Amino acid sequence: MSEPHHDGPSGGVLIVDFGAQYCQLIARRVRELGVYSRITVPERAMFTFAHMRPAAVILSGGPRSVYEHDAPALDPAILQKGVPVLGICYGLQWLAQHTGGEVTPARAGAEYGRTQLHVVDDRDLLAAVRQDGIVWMSHGDKVARLGPGFEVLARSEPCPFAVVGDRTRRFYGLQFHPEVAHTEDGAAMLRNFVLGIARCRADWNPGNLVEQKVAAVRQLVGDSGEVVMGLSGGVDSSVAAVLIHRAIGTRLHCVFVDNGLLRAGEREGVEELFRDHYHMDLEVVDASERFLGELKGVVDPEAKRKIVGKVFVDVFRDKARQKRNAKFLGQGTLYPDVIESVAAHGGATSTIKSHHNVGGLPKDLDLALVEPLRDLFKDEVRALGRELGLPATLVLRQPFPGPGLAVRCLGEVTRQKLEPLRAADRIVREEVEARGLERGLWQYFAVHVPQKTVGVKGDARVYEDVCVLRLVSSQDAMTADWELLPVDVLKRISNRILNEVKGFARVCLDISSKPPATIEWE
Ligand code: XMP
Repeated sequence: MSEPHHDGPSGGVLIVDFGAQYCQLIARRVRELGVYSRITVPERAMFTFAHMRPAAVILSGGPRSVYEHDAPALDPAILQKGVPVLGICYGLQWLAQHTGGEVTPARAGAEYGRTQLHVVDDRDLLAAVRQDGIVWMSHGDKVARLGPGFEVLARSEPCPFAVVGDRTRRFYGLQFHPEVAHTEDGAAMLRNFVLGIARCRADWNPGNLVEQKVAAVRQLVGDSGEVVMGLSGGVDSSVAAVLIHRAIGTRLHCVFVDNGLLRAGEREGVEELFRDHYHMDLEVVDASERFLGELKGVVDPEAKRKIVGKVFVDVFRDKARQKRNAKFLGQGTLYPDVIESVAAHGGATSTIKSHHNVGGLPKDLDLALVEPLRDLFKDEVRALGRELGLPATLVLRQPFPGPGLAVRCLGEVTRQKLEPLRAADRIVREEVEARGLERGLWQYFAVHVPQKTVGVKGDARVYEDVCVLRLVSSQDAMTADWELLPVDVLKRISNRILNEVKGFARVCLDISSKPPATIEWE
């Protein structure tokens, strides 16, 4: 797995991931301070350090014990680099162990949850940190003895070495997690370390990013290089396309594949924004016949997903090959997809659904990749989109799955079922967005359930399908909760669907959280 490119001394923070649940959160907290941060695994930390030349190192927490023989291997030479080091939880224990201290299992057993922090030295790291504030602990081992040079800066009831520091070498350690919201003043501690102690360069902001990214794309593509890319209309590919376009103008060729599984108005919206407004070279390929043809008779959700993914690759590959001068492939890949992280790639997590994205697909095209968002988190991509002048409706748009309406049209996908689904989905969006209710929702959409039920419309008996409303809140789609709308809005949505859409005799509300349900129905 390669890493994001970054030239020269970054003035940023290198985060060594010991398998922490919260590693990405640490990286985001640092970036919220306006400082570049990057995550790497222990085995590659020295290499990444040399490449990145960070101004500080943060050692994350992790599930292991430093005294286990196969504990994550970080070269202690990282402590000789002369930059400040902050160890968090396991990171503190690793730091203690490699600076002459001792780590043992916590005598009273593991310590989990909230505890109060008693500050004994409020200079530098703990400046402006409140006395007896709440911090969030989660550890099974503890530091039993500190090595020479270290002092205690704060303690908690069960933990005499809750915060420690060696001011001469600028090594610090926290036995708790400053990055989680439950730790009061955790943000202040990180700010004190990153901006105060390490004096990192705070130049990571959307304005600078646009300039940096545009320059990087120009350098990569050169004066005459051409780029082809698939535009899905989603946030990532849209922001990537506008950035690349700003760098190379009409040498960017965008392809939008209409797979027949789009929401109402989607294709038109993409054409209007990118072709009419940005004057991009945009080719719209209507491949709906082909997608729906291949989906004919297929009812298995995974089979449907795979077909949509495969046909997309085929269609896109054909188009890309026609752009003979294009030697580059643009993609909206994000940092969480490429992070070299124990948590992101280490575990054998089972596949719940095979996700498909428009980016990241055709591997055999023999094109060099242009991925300007490769070192950005989603919220940073949104900020960049705003900076580039993309409309808020697009930048804040709800996620829409790669397989499109195919996973919301249960069973076999047919035009007859897609039509009412599209109409109902448009009503849901219109009613939610007209009142600004989308701000409280992660996703809001309609699902077509091919179960005939009896109704009566205009004095006549009908026997039609079920429309389900799916309204969820979420932070990251890993977990989600079902949500309600004000009753009058629900009534209006239901009335409109039953009156305006032919094909549904009943509207139901999905009240399932994830887990155990998933957000999409297939
Ligand atoms: P589930 O249904 O797994 O969905 O709870 C989690 C989030 O991912 C979106 N989703 C997809 N996004 N390609 C995507 O780009 C896919 O194949 C795909 N499947 C689900 C879903 O909309 C939700 O936000």
